[in-house]
Amino acid sequence: MTAVAWKELVGEVATATELPGPWRSAFEDVPRGHYVPDEVFVPEPGTPRTYRTVNRSTEPGAWEALVHSNAQVVTQLAPSPFDGGPSPSSSSSAPEAVARMLALLDPAPGARVLDLGSGTGWTAALLARFGTVVVTMESDPELAAQVRAHLIGYEATVTALHGNATLGYPDAAPYDAVHVGFSVRDIPGNWIAQVRPGGRLVMPFGTLFANTGLLRLTVREDGQAADGRFRGGVRFMWERGQRPHWAQAAAGEPERMASPVDPRTVLATGASRWAVGLQVPAVTWDPVPADGDRLLRLWCTDGSWATVAVDAWNKPDGVTQCGPRNLWDEVCAAWSWWDGQGRPGRNRFGVTAGRSGSCRAWLDSPQSPLPGALDPATRTHPAAPLLSDRPNSTTRQR
Ligand SMILES: C[S@@+](CC[C@H](N)C(=O)[O-])C[C@H]1O[C@@H](n2cnc3c(N)ncnc32)[C@H](O)[C@@H]1O
Repeated sequence: MTAVAWKELVGEVATATELPGPWRSAFEDVPRGHYVPDEVFVPEPGTPRTYRTVNRSTEPGAWEALVHSNAQVVTQLAPSPFDGGPSPSSSSSAPEAVARMLALLDPAPGARVLDLGSGTGWTAALLARFGTVVVTMESDPELAAQVRAHLIGYEATVTALHGNATLGYPDAAPYDAVHVGFSVRDIPGNWIAQVRPGGRLVMPFGTLFANTGLLRLTVREDGQAADGRFRGGVRFMWERGQRPHWAQAAAGEPERMASPVDPRTVLATGASRWAVGLQVPAVTWDPVPADGDRLLRLWCTDGSWATVAVDAWNKPDGVTQCGPRNLWDEVCAAWSWWDGQGRPGRNRFGVTAGRSGSCRAWLDSPQSPLPGALDPATRTHPAAPLLSDRPNSTTRQR
């Protein structure tokens, strides 16, 4: 029954992603049920930030249904650095997302692949089964030990390491490809430096405004930088060092004004949110119901905040802004730029990342950088250290 359910799911995923035959065989041979722990966590519908534990021994049917679904399965919870509430810190990624990323990576058999964010070890096992030589890295010591246990039998072609993936692993470089299992909004220069010219990197890439991009980069012939476009959308958890942090809201007299644009228009589509997010780094938004009015709330990790009354946006006090950055002004300017460009979709955008840790978003080509996008000056988390600063913290698991 279990094997049949897995084969059926792989068939659905292969059709949806047009997965090449050799990858389909690898998925069939490596069921994720072997990698998912007995205890997993399911969000409670209707109650944000609440999770129910599903244990394989007491609820085998529910556990199997999760593992054989085309969804992410949360395998670890930890306090969020934003508000302290429970937040997923590891998971087994959704099979369709994994299939799309591996097909995009498209390594040749025998290729040397750096797999970052091992999680359960399932993706590393898929890569090994496909025939690549894998170094996989996980920063959580307990998970890293589990990965080593899960990958027994793959020792000839997989090296499982405990360490910070933003440093990469230079001892086994250069790699032909890097596969990243968490989302970033800053691309560590070490990754570019450790991939051979012409090699590929595939990663979830997002902004705090819209954490929804899937990016493929190719390293330039001179090895100094890598460029590439977005290839559709995925939603992954953040790299542990790039999770949003709490900031005290800025004090002072807020400014009030009318908005030049209806906030519903600004946030109307995935494409508009994506384009705005690339231009307003470190800004998050959410809708808040307040006193019967509909309010949009924005904040930045430097303490700046804004609110927009959704049904009264064009009234003289429709917008309230406070702090060093005028967040709603920035969002409106970003939206107007995108509108003026003919409202391009996500896959017309791309990124150039350099060995030094520079990271620049562009439209259509690296020669057309976005205004102000991904400016390191507005980074609100420490940039990944370059290897010259590397603490000796990577440990081999075998
Ligand atoms: C979505 S899970 C990866 C799932 C994995 N591909 C699988 O098949 O199970 C993301 C993982 O990245 C790990 N991670 C996040 N930041 C990291 C970092 N800086 N270094 C190493 N691992 C990291 C998390 O601990 C988590 O286990």
